[in-house]
Amino acid sequence: MKRSVIFLFLATVLAAPAAFAGDIYNPFTRHKEMVPVTDDRYTSECGDCHFAFQPGWLPARSWSRLMDPRALIDHFGDNAELDEEDRRHIVMLLEAGAADRSPSKRAKKVLRSIEGDDAPLRITETPYIQRKHAEIPKKLIQDNPDVKSLANCDACHRHADEGIFDDDGVDIPGHGPWTGWRPFRWNTGGE
Ligand code: HEC
Ligand code: HEC
Repeated sequence: MKRSVIFLFLATVLAAPAAFAGDIYNPFTRHKEMVPVTDDRYTSECGDCHFAFQPGWLPARSWSRLMDPRALIDHFGDNAELDEEDRRHIVMLLEAGAADRSPSKRAKKVLRSIEGDDAPLRITETPYIQRKHAEIPKKLIQDNPDVKSLANCDACHRHADEGIFDDDGVDIPGHGPWTGWRPFRWNTGGE
């Protein structure tokens, strides 16, 4: 009787830190950044005219609107038509990694920022991305010949391909790193 009490006590004490560590080291809870895309078909078909956006930037319902065969013929004024085999492959990949399925914390934040069932067609129109770039003046984006559009993520985010979008990795062409309005950027560990 006594031995089993001691055993129970020990089991509880030993299990507690293990459960705690499990939470910290779990690869899914730890995943802050975007899951990078490694699919060659996706990067060649969807990374030709612009940065190959990670699927986690939009919910599945947005990707399914964007990837509709008719929508692809008039894709933001360009023709991005695909053969049916490629289209299906890419839709599957986008939907599987979409903001509503991705383990990434950023993807969850994008999703939470979108109102109700809205299915935005632009990552740059999601409230999360708008809020994150609200302080950057137009002359550094639209009027900057080396950037032109906020959609060109990789013009400023040096590790965009790896799915890393931390402000420490920002280097705006013709301007350099971003320090905001403050003379120094304190690392507050915030969002
Ligand atoms: C023929 C060129 C071309 C191809 C191929 C192409 N796109 Fe685009 N895409 C564009 C243009 C042009 C824009 C608008 C860019 C801008 O406003 O700066 C755009 C914008 C986008 C946006 C919105 C960007 C924003 O503002 O947030 C998404 C998402 C997108 N494309 C996804 C895709 C996907 C997925 C594929 C592959 C099926 C693809 N594109 C293939 C030309 C292309
Ligand atoms: C003109 C350069 C530029 C472009 C283009 C750009 N960004 Fe940024 N981005 C920045 C800067 C600068 C910051 C930091 C802003 C601040 O702290 O006020 C930032 C911040 C962010 C953050 C928040 C980082 C953090 O740790 O809080 C995310 C996420 C992000 N950008 C994603 C994107 C995505 C996705 C795209 C493309 C759809 C994009 N950015 C395009 C310059 C850019």
